[in-house]
Amino acid sequence: MIEVKTLEGISKSVLFQTFTRAFSDYIAKIQMSQERFERELLIRRSFISELSIGAFDKQQLVGLIFNGLRQINGKKVLYDCATGIIPAYRKQGISTKMFQYLEEIINDKKIDSYLLEVIQKNEPAVALYKKSGLDICCEYMCYHMKKENFKKFHKNDEITIELKNLNNVNFDLLTSFWDYQPSWQNSMESIKNVHSQFNIIEAHQDSKLLGYAFINPLNGEIPQIALKKEERGKGIGESILQKVIETTTADKISIINTDKRDHNLNSFLEKHGFELNLSQYEMIKNYSFE
Ligand SMILES: CC(C)(COP(=O)(O)OP(=O)(O)OC[C@H]1O[C@@H](n2cnc3c(N)ncnc32)[C@H](O)[C@@H]1OP(=O)(O)O)[C@@H](O)C(=O)NCCC(=O)NCCS
Repeated sequence: MIEVKTLEGISKSVLFQTFTRAFSDYIAKIQMSQERFERELLIRRSFISELSIGAFDKQQLVGLIFNGLRQINGKKVLYDCATGIIPAYRKQGISTKMFQYLEEIINDKKIDSYLLEVIQKNEPAVALYKKSGLDICCEYMCYHMKKENFKKFHKNDEITIELKNLNNVNFDLLTSFWDYQPSWQNSMESIKNVHSQFNIIEAHQDSKLLGYAFINPLNGEIPQIALKKEERGKGIGESILQKVIETTTADKISIINTDKRDHNLNSFLEKHGFELNLSQYEMIKNYSFE
């Protein structure tokens, strides 16, 4: 008999062990330490155990939905950080039961939207989310590039490129450079949640900020890169990428979840040697409480 309840009071090591088993055969290979799991899956994404769901066989956790909560534009948005069932318990309706239980929590807490991302070719998961009432609202592209494949064209030498920590970043100014909102894991709140993992590369001219990229120098992840609109097409983006290459110890650089409609950014990345690795859907279900 499977019992479904929240993950309140369940230890981080049990969450980690069950997550590792549930994702042991996942489409994208996942190998991480417990420390990285807690930082990237839980802290970065604003995980809350009381709003997350577990399925238990006797006392053993066999399935989970990790959820993070944020207030976005005055709305309470709950985000699915991960959903997984350990292989022996799949196709028994357990995820369906967990999503039914989640609906009760969403109603009780008056959550406005439930949001998630899913790899497009993960058919079981896409089917589960559609069955649970979520609709596709956006498509994301995931790029990566081996550093040796970086293609240079016209680096801009009139600007200053600096690598800094995040202590004095004017986050509001940076958002004014955006054409599209970043996904949950790449948002300002996610970056602030794990700020010691990231540096910022800034492009300046006459002490004016023209563009930036956040970079994790250890694994080559770029959660955001953007230039002021009037500064595009002048080689500044390439100078920022050059600095990313120089300051990253990993062999690969990755940019996960660029908006499919962002032709400007996607063609910039492809031109400089990035390859499309995966495509994702963002899916959403909205609720209204009268
Ligand atoms: C996706 C996953 C969570 C589904 O869990 P589950 O408990 O087996 O799902 P359920 O038995 O409740 O099935 C619910 C619905 O999901 C879909 N589904 C589940 N397994 C499926 C499969 N192998 N093929 C196609 N659809 C499938 C179906 O629509 C199903 O409804 P139906 O039985 O009425 O057809 C599970 O396969 C899993 O843990 N996969 C690995 C981790 C993962 O990919 N997580 C999602 C990304 S974060």
